[in-house]
Amino acid sequence: MDKKDFWTKLKKPIIALAPMAGINDMAFRQLCKKYGADVVYSEMVSVDGLFYNSVKTFELMKFKKEEKPYVVQLFGCKPELFAKAAQEVEKIGADGVDINFGCPAPKIYKIMGGVRLMRDLDLCYEIVKATCEAVKIPVSIKIRTGIGKVTGLDLVNRVKDLPLSAIMVHARSFEQAFRGEADLEAIKSIKKAFGGIVLGNGGIYTPEQANDMLVQTKADGIGLAQGVLGKPWLFKQVKDYLKSGKYKEYNLSQIKKVALEHAALNYKLKGKTGILEMRKHLAWYFKGFEGASELRKKLVQVETMKDIKEILEK
Ligand SMILES: Cc1cc2nc3c(=O)[nH]c(=O)nc-3n(C[C@H](O)[C@H](O)[C@H](O)COP(=O)(O)O)c2cc1C
Repeated sequence: MDKKDFWTKLKKPIIALAPMAGINDMAFRQLCKKYGADVVYSEMVSVDGLFYNSVKTFELMKFKKEEKPYVVQLFGCKPELFAKAAQEVEKIGADGVDINFGCPAPKIYKIMGGVRLMRDLDLCYEIVKATCEAVKIPVSIKIRTGIGKVTGLDLVNRVKDLPLSAIMVHARSFEQAFRGEADLEAIKSIKKAFGGIVLGNGGIYTPEQANDMLVQTKADGIGLAQGVLGKPWLFKQVKDYLKSGKYKEYNLSQIKKVALEHAALNYKLKGKTGILEMRKHLAWYFKGFEGASELRKKLVQVETMKDIKEILEK
């Protein structure tokens, strides 16, 4: 099938915003794009939700053209529903569709989705095959290094002959959840086994760590997640460091400016809900400064843009 593959056109190393449920809304994706992300993933979207026409689920996929290239990540467990959902993703004009084989959250695990799928490699194969056959946009997967005795490499070897474009490897096992050391060797072996794009992910909080992952794994790029919470400029710092070996730290007044920009964008896109959802982001922006705990106590109670401005201007 003739694929329109944006992945092959991106300059390497590719620095991506990894999928994050509850975080990667339009405002955050736009901000990350502005600060240097080469590609942004959506929050995970339920294939069942799309099948049953849930308005909320369709809402999650919406995007603006400035976010492109934009990849919608799907979760579920039924190949036929992945195929239908991927067609919806294609219909709205997203650039790619991604399959979640990595989420360990109990409510996803319970419905046989996310990382639990890695226990059934034949089902993974059927899901990837059905999705690839359903659309012309490129299909990617996001996996972990393993669950129980099954490794990420086992999964890659099972699906690698399908027309998959990219794999993001969260370099931790199911058992490690979101903490612990990233297994760079696992990414390296997957890069050797798979002919398409491989993005390493897990534990990148600094430009130096980004560089280490790229050098040690030979991956085509990286995905940033917790490291960009309250720090969307990490994309730019990583790019500056990879280019010149140097990058600039952001001072408090620059951070205030970005936080206000983020809040204004969220308010514009979601109104009052956007302000309430900003509370957690504001706490992340001002973590670790002197007197920050007092400031954060106030920020997690904001109700309006005016509240945010007043607190930050003091
Ligand atoms: C709040 C949060 C939500 C996440 N949601 C998703 C998701 O929807 N889909 C997914 O594949 N991974 C999700 N992840 C996992 C991240 O994409 C990433 O693989 C993981 O956090 C490891 O990278 P890090 O160490 O840089 O954070 C989420 C992580 C966090 C912290």
